[in-house]
Amino acid sequence: MSLEVIILAAGQGTRMRSALPKVLHPLAGKPMLQHAIDAAAQTDPAAIHVVVGHGAEQVKAGVSHPNLQWALQAEQKGTGHAVAQGLAAVAEDATVLITYGDVPLVRPETLQAMVARCRDTLVLLTATLDDPTGYGRIIRNADGAVQAIVEQKDASPEQLAVREVNTGMMALPTRYLREWLPALSADNAQGEYYLTDIIAMAVAAGVAVDVAQPEALWEVEGVNNRLQLNALERQYQRLIAEQLMTDGATLADAQRIDVRGTLTIGQDVSIDVNCVFEGEVALGDGVEIGPNCVISNSRVAAGTVIKANSVLEDAVVGQQCTIGPFARLRPGTVLADAARIGNFVETKNAQVGEGSKINHLSYVGDASLGAGVNIGAGTITCNYDGVNKSRTEIGDGAFVGSNTALVAPVSVGEGATVAAGSTITGNVADGELGVARGRQRNIKGWKRPVKTS
Ligand code: UD1
Ligand code: CA
Repeated sequence: MSLEVIILAAGQGTRMRSALPKVLHPLAGKPMLQHAIDAAAQTDPAAIHVVVGHGAEQVKAGVSHPNLQWALQAEQKGTGHAVAQGLAAVAEDATVLITYGDVPLVRPETLQAMVARCRDTLVLLTATLDDPTGYGRIIRNADGAVQAIVEQKDASPEQLAVREVNTGMMALPTRYLREWLPALSADNAQGEYYLTDIIAMAVAAGVAVDVAQPEALWEVEGVNNRLQLNALERQYQRLIAEQLMTDGATLADAQRIDVRGTLTIGQDVSIDVNCVFEGEVALGDGVEIGPNCVISNSRVAAGTVIKANSVLEDAVVGQQCTIGPFARLRPGTVLADAARIGNFVETKNAQVGEGSKINHLSYVGDASLGAGVNIGAGTITCNYDGVNKSRTEIGDGAFVGSNTALVAPVSVGEGATVAAGSTITGNVADGELGVARGRQRNIKGWKRPVKTS
């Protein structure tokens, strides 16, 4: 029997007070709906149908998965009506799993367990809350069998006292939905077609209603406003921090690290406070990250130390390098082992050879540096003439004096030296000294001006 998923994501999310559709608000750098899609995808469904309405075009452009199919719910007439829109394209003999685009952290294992239990039955995911306010209540009979779901606004005082609630997620065969959804009525407190009314229909038809529960309550928490979004963001970050520590990382403060993507670590990595990791980041054994660093889509090999306030983006860093404090490695930076990048240095599309140093106040862009190169303070590669970018090539063991402007395209040969303060416009051959600055002259007997009035 095949499985298909329907994810509801048509609601407006008024309480977000945002121009961005609610389900596109990011959690750990990724839209909530994408989290819901990725979790659902792990149940291995034949298709994932996403029901969109408010901001439909924006939502469609904001997420992706090879198995996605879109269904439009032009007017939001309730969860039952929304599922009916998604159901149109679902195969007759499939099992349908229904989830919500604004419940981002449900664990794939929880969804898989629901699907595994769905054998010609309706499997409902419920949770027991200290404060069930706002949720649909699970109504059971004297034998404990589920009879119905009653929405908060339709519930009697007695029903409101029930703490077991509907999470909204369920699994059941397509053919039951096809039978029951058209029979829904909007004759209720909200004038909506409630998906939840199919529970009583299942009971009336003698279809068993089975209940599953999540391992943790945060899995089924939905987001209606930015406070709830933040609560889930912190929950998610706490889990990641715990996993990193379990995997052998030392965190200065488990509450002051943010991972927006995937961070893989070797042994004995240490990370100081307020670091942000984005996209795919890999840190080798013994890597030390100082406070306030932002590292995106980069690989850092074993033993490298990145000091405070450094920013790395699309960079590849070798072993035993030293970076920062206050360094900025932009896309295309590749550092060989034992390279040193110091404070207020910016690199971009730059290959830096083994043991080479750019220690202070420099810009090195569109450049290749060999091994053992020393770049003096304040050196600038002038890589852009206003129209085109040109490269600077520097050979092994070259020494570039402080405050040099290297006007690309230009090369400095192996073992060559450039005198401090030079503006280098022509190539310097291997072993030569390039000097390009006004010669100093001293004026003897120089008299300082005196005040005339
Ligand atoms: C729903 C359930 C309630 C459950 C709660 C869990 C119903 C009638 N009630 O209530 O039992 O406890 O979720 O959070 O199902 N949506 C659409 N189209 C619509 C209406 C809703 O796509 O026409 C989507 C929303 O975007 C949202 C989800 O369905 O993702 C739930 O809708 P919402 O209005 O938040 O339902 P609740 O009233 O919270
Ligand atoms: Ca809701």
